[in-house]
Amino acid sequence: MKSLQRRTFAAVLASASLMLAWSPFAHAQAAGKKLVIGFAQTGAESEWRTANTESVKAAASAAGYELKFSDAQQKQENQIKAIRSFIAQKVDVIILAPLVTTGWDTVLREAKAAKIPVILESRSVVVKDPSTWTTFVGSDFVEEGRRAAQWLLGHTKNTTGDVNIVELQGTVGSDPAIERKKGFEEVLKANPRYKIIRSQTADFTRAKGKEVMEAFLKAEGKKINVLYAHNDDMAIGAIQAIEEAGLKPAKDVLVIGVDAVKGAFEAMIAGKMNVSVECNPLLGPQLMEAAAKAASGQTLPRWIKSIEGVFPAEVAAKEFPNRKY
Ligand code: AHR
Repeated sequence: MKSLQRRTFAAVLASASLMLAWSPFAHAQAAGKKLVIGFAQTGAESEWRTANTESVKAAASAAGYELKFSDAQQKQENQIKAIRSFIAQKVDVIILAPLVTTGWDTVLREAKAAKIPVILESRSVVVKDPSTWTTFVGSDFVEEGRRAAQWLLGHTKNTTGDVNIVELQGTVGSDPAIERKKGFEEVLKANPRYKIIRSQTADFTRAKGKEVMEAFLKAEGKKINVLYAHNDDMAIGAIQAIEEAGLKPAKDVLVIGVDAVKGAFEAMIAGKMNVSVECNPLLGPQLMEAAAKAASGQTLPRWIKSIEGVFPAEVAAKEFPNRKY
């Protein structure tokens, strides 16, 4: 797994098909037992999430594992119900994409008591007993926030005066919303001319991204120089609001997103978005490998990190054909 972390993202993708062909769950397969995995997904709130679900389903099927899938429709109580149902069904491993960081102590203790390893994917948790989960497969969200801010500093280095930023946060209490905000602010705090003048959640969705941006524009109008959205879907919704307000996205208002989904590349190619910081949703192969190891009692690293880049509009057209999500 360590060597996997060192490879470039491109190499990880290139090797994905090889990983899928290789089945690490030797014990169960030799014994004729199919690995059964329960996957408690957050929902389908974004282009990113859809790609994530498809990646997990495809990797499970390619590895010959049975995947029990639950879509929580953005409700933590649905995820908790799904975990309890997976425990009752005695699955071998549970994969959880936790909607928010807190509120998992009891149900994760129940999974541990049932001796079912829980793998966190795409978002992490804050619990009293960290031994109730096995590993986290996903991104460094603080670093993503830092990268967004570093791009902004570089892009505006030849300007003077205040740079007024509005921020669209992801789901309240979710790991990526908390950490993308933290990383962004960490870099900007040494540069007092960069001011976050409005910050509000838009729940990672296009519809709310548009709605909240409309409110920001109503309140601040032309004062807004930059939009920082915690994901591309909210940025794309906000672009519509900027246009409807008679302003030019990417020119009058710089637009920064996170995820690097195809929709963001299309917006960049159309000249409506400036940059997207990558967050890789194609975690299926790494998850299947981790699930097999966890089920056979192997120790896993606490964090299996994805390797990601930053894509400014200048490279969008060239990179677009290589995008897998
Ligand atoms: O947990 C990852 C985040 O969740 C993605 O950035 C966002 O688009 C998704 O909904």
